[in-house]
Amino acid sequence: MAQQGPVTIKVDGGVAIILIASPPVNALGAAVRAGIKGCAEAAAADPAVRAIVLAAEGRTFIAGADITEFGKPPVPPSLPEVIAVLERLSKPVVAAIHGAALGGGLEVALGCHARVAAPSAKLGLPEVKLGILPGAGGTQRLPRLIGAAPAARIACDGTPISAKEAQSLGLVDELAEEVLPAAKALALRLADGALPVPARDRTNLGPREAFEEAASALLRKHAGNPSVEAIIDAVRTAFEKSFEEGLAVERAHFHRLRDDPRSKALRHVFFAERAAARIPGLPKGTQPRPVSRAAVIGAGTMGGGIAMSFANAGIPVTLIETSEENLRRGLERVAGNYATSVKRGSLTEEARNQRLGLIEGKVGLEAAAGADVVVEAVFEEMGLKKEIFGKLEAIAKPGAVLATNTSYLDVDEIAASTSRPGDVLGMHFFSPANVMKLLEVVRGAKTAPDALATAMELGRRLAKVPVVSGVCYGFIGNRMLSRRTAQAERLLLEGAQPKEVDQALTDFGFRMGPFAMADLAGLDIGWRIRKATGKTAPVADALCEAGRLGQKTGRGYYDYSGDARTGAADPEVAALIERVSADQGITRRAIPQAEILERLLYPMINEGARILEEGIAARAGDIDIVWLNGYGWPAWTGGPMFHADSIGLQTIAARLRDFAEQSGDTTLAPSPILQRLAEQEQTFASLDQKAAA
Ligand code: CAA
Repeated sequence: MAQQGPVTIKVDGGVAIILIASPPVNALGAAVRAGIKGCAEAAAADPAVRAIVLAAEGRTFIAGADITEFGKPPVPPSLPEVIAVLERLSKPVVAAIHGAALGGGLEVALGCHARVAAPSAKLGLPEVKLGILPGAGGTQRLPRLIGAAPAARIACDGTPISAKEAQSLGLVDELAEEVLPAAKALALRLADGALPVPARDRTNLGPREAFEEAASALLRKHAGNPSVEAIIDAVRTAFEKSFEEGLAVERAHFHRLRDDPRSKALRHVFFAERAAARIPGLPKGTQPRPVSRAAVIGAGTMGGGIAMSFANAGIPVTLIETSEENLRRGLERVAGNYATSVKRGSLTEEARNQRLGLIEGKVGLEAAAGADVVVEAVFEEMGLKKEIFGKLEAIAKPGAVLATNTSYLDVDEIAASTSRPGDVLGMHFFSPANVMKLLEVVRGAKTAPDALATAMELGRRLAKVPVVSGVCYGFIGNRMLSRRTAQAERLLLEGAQPKEVDQALTDFGFRMGPFAMADLAGLDIGWRIRKATGKTAPVADALCEAGRLGQKTGRGYYDYSGDARTGAADPEVAALIERVSADQGITRRAIPQAEILERLLYPMINEGARILEEGIAARAGDIDIVWLNGYGWPAWTGGPMFHADSIGLQTIAARLRDFAEQSGDTTLAPSPILQRLAEQEQTFASLDQKAAA
């Protein structure tokens, strides 16, 4: 056995096994690339070797290029060079794929003469998610092997496919539970015959029309995504030019996109999402508690959605209500949601029945007795929540995690209503709970470490992106949102119209602006909260008083009498806003769109800085993950705190000082931490790096 860094080679019965061992995911860093190349050359030179198998140790085959190397000076050999070495060998090379073959990992496998995969393996080109395109021949080899249309789909969607689908497309030659012996056997069989034609020389592009049709659909589906445009362009080259010319086109796109700020932002998102899973301050060895059964209290829209999330993850759940009537309505809503998915074709009848079978409806809190986790999802009312937690104390089994799905309320106060506050925490789902990815896990002052670890792990099992938040009004997301909401209203009073405000955000990349969103959610929600907390929002209040509660009344900030979904600007609203401005003694002015955007985003960033300073969020990256997964912040800008770093904190602090001065609103002045970082010419990311060190 010989070793080249993290790669070893062992010759056994005429087959050289090249084994990569670079935990955690065998990413193709410089040492791995050099190791594969060196071992491949050694195998080529060894007369005892008739065939070669490329495999990897640990939980997966190769997860792709090493993303941490992006943006650093390149270290040879490059990945295309390594793949070219494999491909030019005169002995057959078989890739043995378990776990995942992603990005550069799949490109390496495409440079082999054949591929054996475990039935559970996933294969894909996820580069679009990082704002790049496959940069080591993926856009040229995959189309020549399986057809240009399916190759373009795989690369543009970025979602890995199953080994079975890969086999049906001709990407995988054999499926086997034990990949290594199967790959060895195949390699020897291939050595007995003529060397298989490598992917680069295959001619399976398929009809040009089929590709162009797929390309138009993909460009429509991912409109404005530069990675998708580049992939289509590179794959199209395969019809028009040689393999080498195609590689050059792909490489040029790769370098351009990799150096684009969008890709830098998306790489930040990748690592921030993983960092968010790490809980700071958790004692070493803390283990999550086992969860095999759940209960959800309250079968409203939220409770029903949460119950669906459990069922979708295969966890049996009891949905609890106070009356048969409420329960029936709740269960009907859940069944209706599943029926819509079946009708749309996104869920099979069988899966629907299986999921419905996991949801059991019950009247009375006693039904929570068997659950390992209880999620309370009743009205946002402190008294009611405390009453429920007080009763749960005796009902829930010892060690059950007791979670409140509150959006704003003090989790510590709720925890104080039980004698087991260590079991209590917040699990703030976002609506619709069965769809939205974000889960804020709220850590109370007395939450036990293993209860927190349980909620975080459960979040991942529910296919959510869980982020830890400390206790404060609105937690991370809604606390920042309230700053934006206040400025949006203020902009109306100072001279803007709803459409201009909304457009500033949609042009930035949000799917919806705050007023279109308010119309969709219903204006009465905020109105009720303002009344309860003694707050006012003159324009929003006036609209509510005029009966304009949003889409449900056909009128809100917009008029929905024409198009019931998008709504149109309404002169009546313009007149109402002007009247309210005049009542407040405000002289209206035209506000440029750039200023509107700054007024909406910078106060939120300022609040994010306070959230960091108070330790409500552990990392700036956690705040980004909250906004990306719960509020539609455009991923290619990296999230609010990353975006702030890209603009420069000096600029943000200076603008906030201007806004505070102009308005007399001292809450707009830069927070101490923002002020300090700006003075030191530092970034929010520098705080995360310090925390991680
Ligand atoms: N480079 C560097 N580090 C990586 C990595 C990569 N490609 N993929 C994963 N990691 C790291 C993660 O950051 C994480 O590190 P920490 O433990 O320090 O947080 C660790 O590996 C484990 O990752 P996950 O937590 O994601 O583990 P998982 O088991 O849930 O998922 C996976 C495994 C499916 C492989 C997932 O990690 C993944 O999707 N990886 C990225 C795949 C990808 O995007 N590949 C394309 C890279 S770009 C490319 O290849 C360009 C090209 O054409 C040459």
